Amino acid sequence: MLSRRSFLSAVAVAAALKSVAARAQERFSPFVGSNPENVTRMVELAAPKTGETVIDLGSGDGRIVFAATQGRPGVRGIGVDINAELVAKANAAAKEQKLADRVQFLHQNVFDADLSKVDVIFMWLFPELMRLLRPKILREARPGTRLVAATWDMGPWWPADATDDPPGSFMTIRQWVVPARIEGSWEWEISLRERSYRFEALLEQRVQQAEGQIRVGNRRELLQNMTLRAAALAFTTQITLPGTGYARLSFNGNVQGDAIEGTLEAQIPKRGEDNETETVRLPWRARRSAGTAYFAPTGTNIN
Ligand SMILES: C[S@@+](CC[C@H](N)C(=O)[O-])C[C@H]1O[C@@H](n2cnc3c(N)ncnc32)[C@H](O)[C@@H]1O
Repeated sequence: MLSRRSFLSAVAVAAALKSVAARAQERFSPFVGSNPENVTRMVELAAPKTGETVIDLGSGDGRIVFAATQGRPGVRGIGVDINAELVAKANAAAKEQKLADRVQFLHQNVFDADLSKVDVIFMWLFPELMRLLRPKILREARPGTRLVAATWDMGPWWPADATDDPPGSFMTIRQWVVPARIEGSWEWEISLRERSYRFEALLEQRVQQAEGQIRVGNRRELLQNMTLRAAALAFTTQITLPGTGYARLSFNGNVQGDAIEGTLEAQIPKRGEDNETETVRLPWRARRSAGTAYFAPTGTNIN
């Protein structure tokens, strides 16, 4: 039986080892190559197209990058690995396979990889490392970039946009699409029936889940049916527009940084006929605003 003293020192050694292992995991997943079936499944789920660039974060011997680029002459490939020997071997293999003009392996830490110009990100690393990379991916990758990862998920970035999990398979392959960043205040004007309406919107975002509220004059409404996929944003609302009446509004647009460009379909009462409606289509141009009048005092006259 262990004495109290040796028990305590065994606990201390185990705790120290655990902490060293955890610190090592933060930076290094050792090289274990994906099996050929998983490589094929990852590449098939990503489906790289002509003109696109793929990157493998922790590329090992380069097998995923090679599988994604071989037979796809219009696809460029980048591999990033912390192990210089693996990087040198992968670059030599790219030369041998006559792919060196469009496939390159970089000796780099994955946290320093440039994700701003890639279309597909592959990842098969320790789960902790994949989670640590989530904020970098969401911040740096362009909206629409596909992230394809094997085995582990991305925590609250859920659900995945596509999953490959055939019966009997050992590993799940998932794909997420990087959404545009829409969180914050936005404003826009709509001209309808010789009047101009100013909209103030507050949008909230949890990765690809979004919701929001708008204000027009002194009226506020919830935004409904909001969807955000890559840069495509859509929502509806119903609100009374002074001088026009009760309107059903359906917004569809493309988020480009601090601007949204799209269309508004407005179902509004016909002039002089309260029971009939007509539908008008208008351009919708929203801009991100530093402040918002959403919270300005409302007063008691809401007409
Ligand atoms: C599990 S292997 C995956 C290799 C390859 N992606 C595949 O699926 O066959 C993980 C790779 O990530 C590399 N790696 C681990 N931590 C890294 C880091 N912080 N920066 C760059 N590469 C890293 C390792 O050297 C190793 O080659």
